Amino acid sequence: MKVPFLDLKAQYQRIKPEIDQAITEVVSEQYFILGPKVEALEQAIATYSQVRHAIGVASGSDALTLALLAIGVGPGDEVITTPFTFFATAGSISQTGASPVFVDIDPQTYNLDPAKIEAHITAKTKAIIPVHLFGQCADMGPINTIAHRHNLKIIEDAAQAIGADYIKDSLPAARAGSIGDMGCFSFYPSKNLGAFGDGGMVTTDDDELAHRLRLLRVHGAAAKYQYQLIGVNSRLDALQAAVLLVKLRYLEEWTEKRRENAAHYDKLFEEINAQSLGIETPHVQYNNRHIYNQYVIRVPQRDMLKEFLAKEGIVTDIYYPYPLHLQECYKGLGYAPGDLIHSERAAQEALALPIYPEFAREHQNYVVSRIAEFFRTVIA
Ligand SMILES: Cc1ncc(COP(=O)(O)O)c(C=O)c1O
Repeated sequence: MKVPFLDLKAQYQRIKPEIDQAITEVVSEQYFILGPKVEALEQAIATYSQVRHAIGVASGSDALTLALLAIGVGPGDEVITTPFTFFATAGSISQTGASPVFVDIDPQTYNLDPAKIEAHITAKTKAIIPVHLFGQCADMGPINTIAHRHNLKIIEDAAQAIGADYIKDSLPAARAGSIGDMGCFSFYPSKNLGAFGDGGMVTTDDDELAHRLRLLRVHGAAAKYQYQLIGVNSRLDALQAAVLLVKLRYLEEWTEKRRENAAHYDKLFEEINAQSLGIETPHVQYNNRHIYNQYVIRVPQRDMLKEFLAKEGIVTDIYYPYPLHLQECYKGLGYAPGDLIHSERAAQEALALPIYPEFAREHQNYVVSRIAEFFRTVIA
């Protein structure tokens, strides 16, 4: 049996007429950069993410860089973040001339551990970037408290978490991208809301930050050829916005499918007594609404299991095999193996299984049966 990791063709086939029509409209209008489609998408994402402003940009990476520039982060500053994330989270900090300061993760959720943040705050710290990894919000309650205490800004890296909710105690649920000062989204094709290329969005409730972001994405221009800020070219294009507007209509349905698939995995893993085999399934903190951009299990024999599954026709993936504090480009920061032990262990043990909305039950049952087989035959 062949089990792909993701099947974007299946998604496209289902919505082909609407997508093709949306693309044809843009091509007929010949209005490609920003414009009404991008504005409509910005409105729709702002509503969906429960914020006042959404600003379309060229990628999730640019969303992070522009958010940092909007709050004035630059050379000599420090920004606290996690090393267990995609490179852009830290790369965006370095792009501004500031330095990332890596803080270890909570080994259960893979998100920044709030209890470890305060020890790393210095006079140079300007902001914190919590990442809502795999589709679950970081523990934003304590992170917000720390940021307010030290007068720091919070930029949520919500690239993997569109539609995720942070739900704690009796507080109202708060949506990813609406909890910090700004939220950064990616529309990379494999995301829950994926474009036909690159795309990104910054969300905020702050009028002044929204204004600065709108300038920064067009070279800093407040009006044609009048530059108030030094910005970049980072515009979302109308073709991507048109595709995303169609896909947004299906996002809730797709998210529910991912959540159902996750619940089915949880049940299957319980049936094979996964915990006794040393397999850890995703841990949902409080009652968060996890949107499962990835369903990540943890297994000490991760690399052997991945290879075994590949031979059985099952594609899995590793997010992320090397933590950022040990990357060559960050040698100058002086981290050594053992410094951020939970991130380093996660990099060796985490394995992402297919979870996409169109994933067939038959395939899913096969994946878990093959994992059980691995423990019966290879590990026993
Ligand atoms: C956590 C995280 N941050 C940032 C990004 C960067 O987004 P993009 O690929 O759209 O630049 C991604 C996606 O790739 C991501 O997963």
